[in-house]
Amino acid sequence: MNAVSGAPREEASFRHALREATAAKHEALDQALSHALNGRDGYVRFLRGTLRVLSANESALDALEGLELKARIEALQQDLEELSAASSIDPSASVPKDPAQSWGAAYVIEGSGLGGLVLAKRAAELGIGATRYLTLRGSQTMASFRAFVARLERWAAVASHPERTAAVNGALQMFSEYRRAFVLEQLIPERHD
Ligand code: HEM
Repeated sequence: MNAVSGAPREEASFRHALREATAAKHEALDQALSHALNGRDGYVRFLRGTLRVLSANESALDALEGLELKARIEALQQDLEELSAASSIDPSASVPKDPAQSWGAAYVIEGSGLGGLVLAKRAAELGIGATRYLTLRGSQTMASFRAFVARLERWAAVASHPERTAAVNGALQMFSEYRRAFVLEQLIPERHD
């Protein structure tokens, strides 16, 4: 299996299906964040929004190997502490309801690490040093994503059609959850999509 490097299997991969299904939401989030992350205040709101999403999902996604949600949450809390900012938790967040939705949700969380490296550079340009969360996996970020995609493809190969559909819905929902959290933190404007 070589779903990540663009080899011929790419077109048939489930990761490709997830990327296609969520492309518009990803693009919209990238755009909104690139406008909003323009200083310490925006960066704090980004960390708080991300913490809302990850802490709400910690127990729902506990069973999935390699996600390291606990380590991500701790890194977020430490970054916020360093910036003297309070944490946000979100009891009203919606979380995956079954293992299939969890795979889709996990895909979004794993993928966010790739964009996170871009954001870490932006934070450095802004003179912000509290980037434990964004740089958690450092040079291993892509390797971790590839390892996740390999596990995702193994799951998808034996999943039923309804399970794969549920995973796509879980990924779409997770993008909406990030967006909702950033809106609640007043980082980005509300948008209906
Ligand atoms: C919380 C916000 C974000 C989430 C949830 C998110 C989610 C994702 C996901 C799921 C992927 C994997 C796509 C694939 O299968 O290839 C991805 C990749 C990527 N994202 Fe984001 N992303 C976020 C923010 C950003 C931002 C703000 C940027 C740019 C400033 C960005 C840039 C990228 C890049 C460059 C990749 C790698 C694409 C590739 O190499 O194929 N992301 N992101």
